Amino acid sequence: METRLTTDISQAATLLQKGAVIAIPTETVYGLAANALEAEAVRKIFELKKRPSSDPLIVHVRGPEALEGIVAGIPDWAYKLMMRFWPGPLTLLLPKGPAIPEEVTAGLPRVAVRAPAHPLTQALLQAVPFPLAAPSANPFGRVSPTTPEHVGEYFAGQIPLILDGGPCAAGIESTIIGEEHGRLVLYRPGALPREVLEEALGEKLYTRTHVTSTPPVTPGQFPRHYAPNKPLLYGWRTPPPEKNASIVVFEPVPFSHPYLHYLPAEEKLADAAAQLYPTLLTCEKEPTHYILVQAVSPHGLGEALHDRLRRASLPHLFTIGHSNHPWAEFQALLQKYEIHAILDLRKQPYSRYVPHFSQGPLQKALHEINIAYEWQPNPNRLLPTVEKLLREYLHVALLCAEGDPNRCHRFSLSDTLTEKGFAIFHILPTGELHLHRAPISLSLEEKAS
Ligand code: TXA
Ligand code: MG
Repeated sequence: METRLTTDISQAATLLQKGAVIAIPTETVYGLAANALEAEAVRKIFELKKRPSSDPLIVHVRGPEALEGIVAGIPDWAYKLMMRFWPGPLTLLLPKGPAIPEEVTAGLPRVAVRAPAHPLTQALLQAVPFPLAAPSANPFGRVSPTTPEHVGEYFAGQIPLILDGGPCAAGIESTIIGEEHGRLVLYRPGALPREVLEEALGEKLYTRTHVTSTPPVTPGQFPRHYAPNKPLLYGWRTPPPEKNASIVVFEPVPFSHPYLHYLPAEEKLADAAAQLYPTLLTCEKEPTHYILVQAVSPHGLGEALHDRLRRASLPHLFTIGHSNHPWAEFQALLQKYEIHAILDLRKQPYSRYVPHFSQGPLQKALHEINIAYEWQPNPNRLLPTVEKLLREYLHVALLCAEGDPNRCHRFSLSDTLTEKGFAIFHILPTGELHLHRAPISLSLEEKAS
């Protein structure tokens, strides 16, 4: 199938009327759109995206006047927000109307609706007599596209048309809110900051964006979403200048690096948001093995960036060999990698040659520099201990008996951990970070070429 890139609304409208799926621009990200009233057309979206049918779609309308039959009623709070923020990056969960097929809402009692602000898509919605169901135009679990070129990289040959609206202004998905037991709940932070909504509503929004592993009953709840194709480690105060990494920062860092991406966040968080997904897609193509991303302060628009990066981040562990590092050097390594907790795997945690690695002195010294310490020499109890530590700490290192970190993984520890979804990094005795294993199918060689 040839994929046309065009700004011609009438071609787009004709295809949609025939039940086709096309890509459309919005002010947030590109969407894969189809007639929201036709179950058959909607099913094609799920197939193209390889999206589980349990994950419902947002219905895009011209404005509040186009909601008849789509929603079963518009509560006052929703009406107020539509008047103020539509067209714009705000999605509302409202009681589902009879015109919407079950496929769109995955059988849920509410339907997600929004009026997108992009002029081409607004014109398209005027030109067709139905609303458009549209998820972001990426294969399920991948980074959302914010340019027609990125849509083409994912879906060229699979869809007949990409409506070319240029790069998306906001670059991050819409904010989703809804009502539960009389309270207004923020389900997905997005391009419209929480603070702006709270100010308009005159009340605080409850939050329900926790990550679970079961299919969502509420939006955006799949644990790994918006993920690039190599391990992304999020949350660094200062990412270390690793040569194998693509590095994304929001503040200047005191080193230069061939794959350093600086998205100034301070004054211009909106620019950083618009650049985030294109930057992650660039990082995917660089000849690096993983991506390190500096922490974003989760306020205003930062809440959405933080949310996406947290979801894109692969749960990971570091292993660090018990080499004969003097204490000061060992401590410097822990600081460089911002290690928060150490799990000591050594069966006999004492050392004749380097006494500071004995259990007591090590524990005390780590405590002094604010690093948690646990000892777990029993291979059968490792996984629960690791999971427990990772609930509390972002960077956990496993301390092994071997100076050679490749030998840390007796007890098929790395198999178990990668099967559980962890990426494992070695902190080499030389002080570099090396990706040992990651539960990602692309081979490193393929990516590096
Ligand atoms: O900015 C956006 O919202 C973009 C553009 C294309 O409009 N769309 C978008 O769609 O991000 P998508 O499918 O990638 O994310 C929609 C989220 C999903 O997490 C889904 O679970 C949730 O909204 N959702 C949609 N309908 C729902 C419903 N009826 N009940 C609960 N959650 C729903
Ligand atoms: Mg999406």
